[in-house]
Amino acid sequence: MALFKKKTTMDHILSAQQGELDAEYMYNEMAKVVEKDYPEVAENFRKVAKSERAHYNVCAKITGKTLTKPVPVKAILVSNILKKNPKLALTLVANGEYDAASDYAPYILEYPQIESVLKDEIRHGDNAKELIAKYF
Ligand SMILES: [Fe+2]
Ligand SMILES: [Fe+2]
Repeated sequence: MALFKKKTTMDHILSAQQGELDAEYMYNEMAKVVEKDYPEVAENFRKVAKSERAHYNVCAKITGKTLTKPVPVKAILVSNILKKNPKLALTLVANGEYDAASDYAPYILEYPQIESVLKDEIRHGDNAKELIAKYF
């Protein structure tokens, strides 16, 4: 019965692929929020967005699927918080990045190319924390 079908590895990678698309969109939206007052931070966000696109591509090679529509919920939420409380927004982003890293962990044995993605997510989390320390 489809309702009780267990999620396969491919289902998880496909979810992660969507997550990467969403993350790319989120960082680009965040860049728009800060670009006037913090151009360096905007540049940093755009750089991370590119890294998320690279992750999307790693997942796409595994799944063989093309996804084009980011789910904007996180981008909207985080961008709004960023306007009023950048420290909180970046803390949420950092936690999300560390969660993404953990979510990839079960798949690096089967797909070794995911290991560098996992390490990038940890770097993204550290980056968000460093931005708090330096700017907010
Ligand atoms: Fe990513
Ligand atoms: Fe990331």
